[in-house]
Amino acid sequence: MIDMTDARRDADFVTRAPLPPERLDALSRDILALKHRLNAVILAHNYQVPEIQDIADFVGDSLGLSRQAAKTEAEVIVFCGVHFMAETAKILNPDKTVILPDKDAGCSLEESCPAAKLQALQATNPNFYTVTYINCSAEVKALSDVICTSGNAVKIVNAAPKERDLLFVPDENLGAWVMEQTGRKMTLWRGACYAHVEFTHAGVTRIRREFPAAPLVAHPECTRAVRLLADEICSTEKMVDYCRRSAAQAILIATEAGMIHRLRKECPGKRFIPVPVENCRCNECKFMKMNTLEKLHDCMAGLSPRVELRPDIIERARQPIERMLRISSQAMANAG
Ligand code: 13P
Ligand code: SF4
Repeated sequence: MIDMTDARRDADFVTRAPLPPERLDALSRDILALKHRLNAVILAHNYQVPEIQDIADFVGDSLGLSRQAAKTEAEVIVFCGVHFMAETAKILNPDKTVILPDKDAGCSLEESCPAAKLQALQATNPNFYTVTYINCSAEVKALSDVICTSGNAVKIVNAAPKERDLLFVPDENLGAWVMEQTGRKMTLWRGACYAHVEFTHAGVTRIRREFPAAPLVAHPECTRAVRLLADEICSTEKMVDYCRRSAAQAILIATEAGMIHRLRKECPGKRFIPVPVENCRCNECKFMKMNTLEKLHDCMAGLSPRVELRPDIIERARQPIERMLRISSQAMANAG
C-alpha cells in the first residue's frame, strides 16, 4: 500500500501544481463534448500529465499508439504526445485531420538526426539497410527501410535481411541494447534521449540501498551502466505487463515520470519508486510535458495546430511504418 511518507516522497517528482477541481471538471466536460461533436479520438502517450491520460481514449507506448492510429475510424485524431508521434498518425491517415496540443513538443532524438546528415551517411554504403527508431522526423522515416519502436526493435532487427549491413538510427543506447539481444552487428547513429541518459549507475545504487528487494525496470534508452543493473528492460507498455505480473510490492522505475501515474492506475496497491536523477530534481521529458489539459481543449476547439506533411513524404514514410506493423503483427501471431 502507498503510505503518506511514500506519497510525500513521490510528490517530490511532480513539478507542477494540479488543476483546481472545478477547472479540471469544466475542461474535462468541454473536451468530452468537443470529442463527440468532432467525431474525434484522443490518443495519449504514457508520459503525458495525469489529467490528459485520464481523459484519453487510449494510453500507451509508441507501438500501441501507432496501432491505434492505423485502425481508428474517427475523423479527427487528437494526439497527446510529441510531434513525431502525431506525424506518424498523419502518415497512416493522410485524409484525416490530426491535431496536437503543442506543435513545439519535439524530441532530442529527432533533433539529433537531420535527414540530410542521414542521407550523407547512407551514401557511404549502398548495402546499408536502415532500421529507424520511430523517434524521428517524417523526412527521416521516408529515408528508412523499416521503422521500429522500443516495443518491437528486437523483432524488427531479427527480421532484417541477413545479407545487408544494418544501420540503426537515431538512438545509440537502444541500438546497443538491440545488438546485445540479437547478436546482430549494426552501425549506430550517435543520438540519445536527453532525459533517459540522466539516470546513472550511482542513482540506481543509491535508491537500491533503500529498497534492496525492489526489482529495477528500465527503458532501453537508458545507458548501458543502468541497463546492466536492470531486472527488466522494455518499452513503457511492457513495463505495465511486467509490473502486473511481478510478485514484488515495490518496483524501481527508470523512465520518464509520467509512467508512474499509469502504473499506479494499472497496479493499485503496488508501490512504484522513480529512480532519482543526478542533475535535476525531476526525471521529466520537457517536451512531453509541454502538453496541458488547457492546450488539449484549445487545439480541439480551434482544430489547430494541425499536422501537415508533403504528399511525397507521406507516401515514402508510410512504407517503412507499414512494414514495421506487418512484421510486428506476424511475430505476435507466430507467438500464438
Ligand atoms: P515507448 O515507445 O517505450 O513508450 O517510448 C517512447 C519514448 O519516447 C521513450 O522516451
Ligand atoms: Fe524524446 Fe526522450 Fe522525450 Fe522520449 S523522453 S520523447 S525520447 S526526449
